[in-house]
This record gives sequence, structure tokens and C-alpha cells, in this order.
Amino acid sequence: MQNDFSQNQNNSQEELELKKSLSSALAKKIDVLAKLYREKKISLEEISLILGIEKSEVSLIFSQKGLMKRKRILVGGGAGFIGSNFIYHMLEKYPHYEIINYDVLTYAANIENLRTAEKNPNYKFVQGDIADYEKLEEIAKEGIDAIVNFAAETAVGRSVHGKAADFIHSNVVGTHTLLEIVKNYKIPRFVQISTDEVYGTVDLDEDRTFFEDSPFLPNVPYAAAKAGGDLMCRAYFNTYNVPVIVTHCSNNYGPYQHPEKLIPYFIFRATNNQSLPIHGDGRHVRDWIYVRDHCEAIDAILHKGISGEIYNISADSEKPTIEIAKLILELIGKPHLLINHVPDRPGNDRRYSISAGKIGKELGWTPSHTFEDAMPKTIEWYQHNIDWVEKIKEKDQEFTNYI
Ligand SMILES: NC(=O)c1ccc[n+]([C@@H]2O[C@H](COP(=O)([O-])OP(=O)(O)OC[C@H]3O[C@@H](n4cnc5c(N)ncnc54)[C@H](O)[C@@H]3O)[C@@H](O)[C@H]2O)c1
Repeated sequence: MQNDFSQNQNNSQEELELKKSLSSALAKKIDVLAKLYREKKISLEEISLILGIEKSEVSLIFSQKGLMKRKRILVGGGAGFIGSNFIYHMLEKYPHYEIINYDVLTYAANIENLRTAEKNPNYKFVQGDIADYEKLEEIAKEGIDAIVNFAAETAVGRSVHGKAADFIHSNVVGTHTLLEIVKNYKIPRFVQISTDEVYGTVDLDEDRTFFEDSPFLPNVPYAAAKAGGDLMCRAYFNTYNVPVIVTHCSNNYGPYQHPEKLIPYFIFRATNNQSLPIHGDGRHVRDWIYVRDHCEAIDAILHKGISGEIYNISADSEKPTIEIAKLILELIGKPHLLINHVPDRPGNDRRYSISAGKIGKELGWTPSHTFEDAMPKTIEWYQHNIDWVEKIKEKDQEFTNYI
């Protein structure tokens, strides 16, 4: 006679057998789906629906089975604002990719942003300057499938009141050095991240927007240096057929942005009952996009974009700065009285306006967030990460000189 214990053992034996046959049935199913995928008869989306798992999990299984190539992506400037968001996007969506964050760590970098990424074996950090050919060569020799470059000096105020030479070093010389690496090591894809500011300004009452073939008319050293790097990309494509794509995106907001930039600056000032300085009349218009939407657009360009092409990226959300200040004050529950008009900055462009019709039509990308949805969660992120902001303020006490 069996006692309760042995009966349990028999039950678990049966369970084990059942699990074994279920997992061998699943393995067979995966093999059949993999065969169909190899024959291009089924998409990853369809497989993920059939198996009831995420597309990223399907790609991980397929890469382990050697069906999908493991890719190595070098992300220039990944310790900055958009770069860190992009690294998280990639690690989450493509678990079979290896991401190398290559960043020199200027004042704008914050390696703390990547603490969670550091736990992922597919993430690696290398400290280096994009203008350092030999350092880049060490990585290129091991093989790189693509470079996505965010590395740049980005603070307009610093380019006006600080050292414009730093901007030429990173944004022009650095971009040129990356192009040389891509050319000499035959790297199949290079995405250079640039800005809508290269097109210059539009008047408030003008019915005009910039397209990918609009001329470059930059007004501040930051935008001129970015334009210089972008033109170098154009020249390397036309002269050497280097597979480069340039993007021009509008203003980003979201987690991990340095508090010298408008939205985080206003959030922490308003939270501390400090005044919000507004340049001039505050009617300067900027076009705002949530950073994760920008990352999705870059992902689409990286995987589906055409070499030599340029893509504008925007969420079609133009707002005057004064309206942003009012909205932040309202969402935080502070009075409009905190708004303080200060003299305008030299060369301050009146309005940026770009069309993102091309990327929508050709690559099927559209933003998923509206300003009204993403702004409250951005405020929440900064308020939950006060320590993160305070640490940056401690490290770089002079940043307000350049606002
Ligand atoms: N923030 C925006 O609203 C916005 C909008 C459109 C385009 N862009 C572009 O996107 C890119 C990223 O912007 P961001 O706001 O994340 O910038 P950021 O200032 O937050 O980060 C830039 C990063 O680049 C690194 N870096 C600078 N010079 C370097 C060099 N020579 N070598 C290696 N690393 C270097 C810095 O250490 C930093 O981590 C920039 O090229 C910028 O022009 C930004």
C-alpha cells in the first residue's frame, strides 16, 4: 500500500512526465515556426501571437537557435539623456543585441543613468572620445554591425556663453572620426542623430515648415556645429558611399535629462517654489517630443532606413515656452506668479517647425505619446528622482550660468 508521501511522489512523477511532453511539444512547435520564419512565410509578430510571448522573447529564442544574427551596436554618447533612454529601449526590445555605450563622460553625462543596464550581460561601457580614432579602432576591430551616434555638445547656452570650440570638437571632428571608422571598417550602418535647429528659425506668423531638403541656416554655434557634422555625413555618403543616415529631431523631454535643459529646470525650480526665468516675451515656439517616441523612430531608421537619406522626427507638438511654464506650474500646483521674464538670449530662434511626414510615410513611424499624456509622467519621474537631480546639481554647480 502506498503511503501519502509515495502517492505525492507518483503525482509529481506524472507532472514531470507531463511537463516533459508539453515542453517537447512546444519545442517542436518552435521548430516548425522557425522553419516558416526562415522561409519568410511568417513574421515575428505572428509568431509572438501564436506562442503568446513577447516579440523580444521570440527573437531571443531564435538567436539562441542561431536563426537570428546577434548584433553589436555601438552607441556614441549613451550616458547622456537620449542615449540612455535609447540603450534601455534597445536592451528591452532586442535581448539578442549587444550594446556598447561609448561615451567620454562630459559634465552632461551621467553614468548613474545606466545602473540598471549594467546588470544586463549584453551591455558594456567603454569610456572614450568619438574624436579618438585609435580608441574606436580597438572596438571596430572586434566587429560592429551599426553605430548610432548621440555624442555631442548639446547645450545651446554653453555654445553662446561658453566655449564654442568644444562644440566643433565633438560635433564636427567627432562625427568625421566616426565616418572614417565606418568607411575603413566597412560598418554596414551609421545613424547620426541631429537636430531641427540646423534649419534655423521661422517667424511666428509664417506658414512655413522645414522638410528634409530645406537649406541649413543655423543661428547659434551649437546648431552650426551640428550642421557641420551633418554635412560631413552627406559628403561621406556621396564621396565614399558610407552607409550613413542623418536624423533631425525636435526638442525632447522625459527621464534622465540634465537639469540645465528647460523642462527639468522648470520642474525642479517650480517644485522648490523658485521663479521660472523666461527669455524675452516667452513666445518662442519649440516642437516637443517624448524621448521614448524619439527612440522608437531611431529604431525604425536603424532597421528600415535607407543609407544616404535624411529623416525629420517630430511629434507635431509646437508650444510657446510661456505655455510650458504655465502648464508645469499648474501640474505641480504652483501659481503663475513664479514666472519671471529675463532678457532674451542672443541668437534665440523664434520658432522651430519641421515636418515628419517622410518617416511616417516611408517607415511607418508615428509617435505614441501626446504632450498632455507624457508631461505629467515626466514631472512625476523628476519628483520621484530628486536625489538624481540633486547629485547633478552638486557635481556641476555652475550650470545655471548658461541657462
Ligand atoms: N535633447 C534634445 O532635445 C535633442 C533634440 C534633437 C537632437 N538632439 C541630439 O541628440 C543627441 C543627444 O542629445 P542629448 O540631449 O541626449 O545630449 P546630452 O548632452 O544629454 O548627452 C550627450 C552625451 O554625449 C557625450 N559626449 C559629448 N562629447 C563627446 C565626445 N567627444 N565623445 C564621446 N562622448 C561625448 C556626453 O558625455 C554625454 O553623455 C545630440 O547629438 C543632440 O544634438 C537632442
